[in-house]
Amino acid sequence: MKAAFVQTSPVFGEVQSNVDKAVSKIAKLDASLIVLPELFSTGYQFRSKKELLELAEELPSGYATRTLIEAAKATGAYIVAGLAERAGKKAYNSAVLVGPRGLIATYRKAHLFWDEKKIFTKGDTPFKVYKAGKVRVGMMICFDWLFPEAARTLALQGAQIICHPSNLVLPYCPQAMITRSLENRVFTITANRVGTEERVDGKLLKFIGTSQVTSPDGEVLARAGSKREEASAVEIDPARARKKLITPLNDIFRDRRKDLFSN
Ligand code: ACM
Repeated sequence: MKAAFVQTSPVFGEVQSNVDKAVSKIAKLDASLIVLPELFSTGYQFRSKKELLELAEELPSGYATRTLIEAAKATGAYIVAGLAERAGKKAYNSAVLVGPRGLIATYRKAHLFWDEKKIFTKGDTPFKVYKAGKVRVGMMICFDWLFPEAARTLALQGAQIICHPSNLVLPYCPQAMITRSLENRVFTITANRVGTEERVDGKLLKFIGTSQVTSPDGEVLARAGSKREEASAVEIDPARARKKLITPLNDIFRDRRKDLFSN
């Protein structure tokens, strides 16, 4: 199967054009699983919760989700994308998994980063695995990478591919995701954005790009640059993620010393 990321450069608040531009890249990729960045439809740096609630969308009726579903129907692809979700008076930093038959699942970001804590409600959806066609996928969002339990929980449930919409500003994640991949023997797809935002004086955010696909052996199968919008699709064999042996005598899940772990 072909797995892909789309690396974008959204313009803050321009939901319709951000969505249309990102979605226009999907058909050309000819991939069966495609990951888009965190908050791909709105941009990242909200000035207030009020502004966030105005730009966030209800699921599945919001513009971004509807457009993603149409693209999934037209191409047969499964798509994971990060967006601002409105649920009553709350807003979540969410990721949706959509397929040709509609919205399959929503994941709400568990580990909010920095000022996200002031405006988003922290996620209440467990780390869970879903079927995307023939493969099992899990979702986590950006800063969740720093909490290895997120990827481990997904892998223990049988995730073969971890889909990871991101808006990275710190430099560590691309290298760290190689380890998340290796220590769980899964594929990962991190879709990040590029560009800058300074909607709050003195808080310039530079997004690092370097979206990537990693393999269960810790190979970087594709990696984007840090400056431009890019999309890349790579051929992967998801069955590789079912094999947890790292030597003939070491199954990395069976070898876990749960009797010695305190949490
Ligand atoms: C992040 O979680 N957007 C860094």
